[in-house]
Amino acid sequence: MNKQKKIVSMFDEIAPTYDVANRILSFGVDKSWRKKACDLTYKFYDKNTIDLIVDVACGTGDMCEYWLKRSGAKNIILKQILGVDPSIQMLKVAKTKNINASFTEGEAKKLPIENEQADIISISYGLRNVVDRVEGLKEFNRVLKKNGLLVILEFTKLQNKNFISKIRDFYMKKILPTIGGLLSKNYEAYNYLPNSIENFLTKEKLEKELQECGFEILYSKGFSMDISTLFIARKK
Ligand SMILES: C[S@@+](CC[C@H](N)C(=O)[O-])C[C@H]1O[C@@H](n2cnc3c(N)ncnc32)[C@H](O)[C@@H]1O
Repeated sequence: MNKQKKIVSMFDEIAPTYDVANRILSFGVDKSWRKKACDLTYKFYDKNTIDLIVDVACGTGDMCEYWLKRSGAKNIILKQILGVDPSIQMLKVAKTKNINASFTEGEAKKLPIENEQADIISISYGLRNVVDRVEGLKEFNRVLKKNGLLVILEFTKLQNKNFISKIRDFYMKKILPTIGGLLSKNYEAYNYLPNSIENFLTKEKLEKELQECGFEILYSKGFSMDISTLFIARKK
């Protein structure tokens, strides 16, 4: 099995327990990161009507739910939201939530969408799993309207190993795999998480890659002692 297929099948396996594990392991803090991402993006985009938001690597649909909630809170008319993910089992859970979004199977590097259709593309805690990342970023650029926004929430690799980052590493490498493994009975999947962060880019390197793929960085900042980083970039 190739690397990308292996990653997707791992998500298929943990899909039934993914939401519970996520809430416990993030102590619910991920909710505030998602809310902030949506609110800031709506502020940068500054439009009352949005035709299409595509949430790539949508998993069980959390981010789609936040886009809907926050557009409602801000009186923004959101005409369509589409969640895309290659894991059928994650999509199955998303569909049980009965939110006003559609979900379809697909990979970051080959989205089932015509050129320049999306106002906003988001990918939350998904980019690390995209093996052909540059192809994915170029695909996002193709699908976005001119001046459309790309929103990335991700655990980036920390460059300076200060005290806080050592605590994060300890949590990610020791505590998270144990609890996640216990909940999902899949220790391999939860060991993959810290390794995938270690093999991922730093905030600065991802900014550079985004620029090389045709984006202008509008915002990039770490939250909660740099545990999670938010990038908002505009298609040039
Ligand atoms: C950690 S989950 C994040 C799910 C969701 N976005 C969230 O915030 O909870 C990562 C997701 O990335 C998906 N994924 C893996 N490889 C992918 C790819 N090449 N393209 C798109 N999504 C991918 C997985 O199936 C999984 O649902």
